[in-house]
Formats: sequence, C-alpha cells, structure tokens
Amino acid sequence: MKKIMLVFGTRPEAIKMAPLVKEFQKRLDVFDIIVCVTGQHRQMLDQVLQLFEIVPDYDLDIMKPGQDLYDVTSRVLLGMRDVLKEAEPDLLLVHGDTTTSTASALAAFYLQIPVGHIEAGLRTYNLNNPWPEEMNRQLTGRIAKYHFSPTQLSAENLKNERVFGNIEITGNTVIDALYWVTDKIKNDNELYLQLEYSLAKAGYDIKRIQKGRKVVLITGHRRENFGEGFVNICKAIREISEKHTDVDFIYPMHLNPNVRVPILKVFGKKQIDNLFFIEPLEYLSFVFLMERSYLILTDSGGVQEEAPGLGKPVLVMRTTTERPEAVDAGTVKLVGTDVDKIVEGVSHLLNSKEEYDKMSKAVNPYGDGKASIRIVSFFNDLNI
Ligand code: UD1
Ligand code: UDP
Repeated sequence: MKKIMLVFGTRPEAIKMAPLVKEFQKRLDVFDIIVCVTGQHRQMLDQVLQLFEIVPDYDLDIMKPGQDLYDVTSRVLLGMRDVLKEAEPDLLLVHGDTTTSTASALAAFYLQIPVGHIEAGLRTYNLNNPWPEEMNRQLTGRIAKYHFSPTQLSAENLKNERVFGNIEITGNTVIDALYWVTDKIKNDNELYLQLEYSLAKAGYDIKRIQKGRKVVLITGHRRENFGEGFVNICKAIREISEKHTDVDFIYPMHLNPNVRVPILKVFGKKQIDNLFFIEPLEYLSFVFLMERSYLILTDSGGVQEEAPGLGKPVLVMRTTTERPEAVDAGTVKLVGTDVDKIVEGVSHLLNSKEEYDKMSKAVNPYGDGKASIRIVSFFNDLNI
C-alpha cells in the first residue's frame, strides 16, 4: 500500500484538494489515504469539508482570530511535525501557496518525507505581490519532488527554475471541483430551491435576477490590499453602486477582520438599496451565484480560474497575476485598486455591449475536469 497524506487548511485549498481526495478514495486497493487539515481557516474550511463529505483524520485546529504569519507558520510547522511522525506517510501532498502549504512542506522535508506539490509553478516573480504567496510557492517548489502544474506556462516556470524531480501538466483540480458542482446544480429543481433559500437567508433574493437585474459579484481578501487598497475598493464599490442603480452588487465578505473593518469604515450604517454585503457563501451557492452573475470583480486566485470557464468577465483588483492564461484569452483584465480604474472598468463593461461580448466568451485554459484523475494515475504507476 502507498501511504499518502494530503494536507490543506484554507477554503481554496480545500475546494481544490477535495476532488483529489475523492479520486484517491476510489483506489483504496492501492492507496492508504490520510487527510490532515490544519484549520488555518475554520468556518470557511468546514463549509467545504461538509459539501464534499470529507472527514479529516487529523485536524490541527490552529486558527485564531486575527492570527499573523508567525502564528500560522509556527503552529503548522509544529503540528505537522507531530502528525507526520505519528502517521509516517510515504508522501505528503500540499497545495498552492498558502502558509499551510509551505510550512507543511518544510515539516515533511525535516523528516525526509517526499513532497508533491499540487498547483505548482504559478509565478509573478514579484515577492511583494501576491504577498506572502509568491515566496510560499517558490519555497514549496524547491522542496517538492513531484510538481503538478495546471498549464504549460506554469510547467515552463519550473523548468526554468531547474526544480528537482518530476513536472507533470495536469490541469487545475479547481476545474474538477467546478464541474462537480455545476453538474450537481444542473437540472436539480429541489437543489435549485434550496440554493434560492440559502441565498435569501444570506441576504439576497435571487428573484431580483429573474426579474432582469444584472449582478456584479465581488470578493476580496489579499494581504497586499489591506489598508489603503481595501479602502479604495470600498470607495469604488460605493461609487459604482450609486451610479448603476439598475444593477445589484453582491459582496460575500471574507471573514478576515482586515477585510471587514474597512467596509464598516466606508459604509458605516449607510444602506444602499442595490448593494448587498453578505456572509461568505458555501461553495455550491457561490458557484450558483457566479453562474447567474453578469461580471465579477475580485482579487481572488480561484475565482480567476473558475469564472472564465463560466463565460463571466473578470476584473482583477490587483496589479499582477500568476494566472496570465485567461488574460491572454481576453476574459480577465487587471484593474488594480485605484478607485477610478475600478469604476471605469466596471462601468465600461456595464455600458458597452461590444466590450462585454468580447470578454464573456467561455474559455477554459485551466483544465478539463480530469486533473485529479491524472494525478492519481501518476502515483498509481509510480514506485514510492
Ligand atoms: C489565507 C491565505 C491566502 C489565501 C486565503 C484564501 C496565507 C498566508 N494566506 O489568507 O493565501 O488566498 O487564505 O481565503 O496562507 N477567518 C475566520 N474564519 C475563517 C477564515 C478566516 O474567522 O474560516 C479570519 C480569522 O480572524 C483569521 C483571519 O481571518 O485569523 C485570517 O486568516 P488567514 O488564513 O491567516 O489569512 P487569509 O487572509 O484568510
Ligand atoms: N468561494 C466560496 N464562497 C465565497 C467566495 C468564494 O466558496 O463566498 C470560493 C470560490 O469559488 C473559489 C475559492 O472560494 O473556489 C476562492 O477562495 P479565496 O478567494 O478565498 O482564495 P484564493 O483563491 O484567492 O486563494
């Protein structure tokens, strides 16, 4: 039996690792699969575990309100030391660029346990943007022995860096997760009613869309945008929502206090009829809403990968991206965090049918929904 541990801790890692856990679990004749969560996120992680019905074997439960990078790094490193010593896996699989990912890879390295990196090779080559993720993923790339790149470009980055070990192009497992969810939603009337109800409970009545209102869906959480960046984002949202009263703006707020405080600061108790600040949505509801949105304004990595596949234009509130494939395909544009640029970008897409049609062609540069199958098959064929 090949004993493989998968570790993850935040919402996006969970969404992207869940299809892989599910795929490994189909082959329990070959693999002994151990799932460890660090709990870097709590509620937002648990939402995903519940949806995919994953019960972790280990849960470090490290999250503290307002944690900083030292807290997360040290708790994951020490927690993973103990888990790895006890479970003794043949291999540890980590994902992407979070602190969970890098600190876990380091913990495995100290015990000389080989590491596989899922979503490997994404780069901006700007250590301050995204921060600290660019450093996180470069460090994990140095440690890992098996690298699973979503695209040709991310594989090229790793080749140019002369990382050790195997580099495989698999597509991104986020597309596996997305297809799983869109398939589930499609043609299921009962589920549709449940999602309608859960959105209403979160604070948005989907009947507004059925009556013809367009939706701009907004998310934001990047550390390099904390402070002035988020204040600007909020000011821009206020301006565009007041300018386009025929459009609804929905912002499921990340639970990070650094995201929520500026919202309170800019909006106070002021209510704007077409602006909805709601709690983070469970993945199924979020995808349901993405499918029904007109366009998306975000600084998220995962959303930049999902929205193009749904044919939704994305304006990215960042100055760099490690996901240039969808920019090249024309469905994603960078607008940064300048108030005027955000307002201009959104208004242009709302006002110009020509621009909208150009950006809303469905493309899927990030995968075909079979990334997990490829990764499992790689380890099936490998002697570890
Ligand atoms: C983390 C990752 C980032 C990833 C993002 C996805 C690092 C350094 N950052 O950033 O790469 O893009 O997750 O969302 O690894 N909180 C809760 N409940 C939750 C989640 C967060 O209350 O379920 C609050 C807590 O106060 C917590 C804070 O948010 O201390 C920050 O969480 P943290 O994981 O440190 O940072 P993120 O900004 O979420
Ligand atoms: N997402 C979600 N609920 C929300 C907002 C986002 O399930 O309210 C999903 C989204 O579809 C994507 C992932 O969370 O798959 C992105 O997470 P986030 O933006 O927090 O992190 P990033 O991808 O930037 O690391």
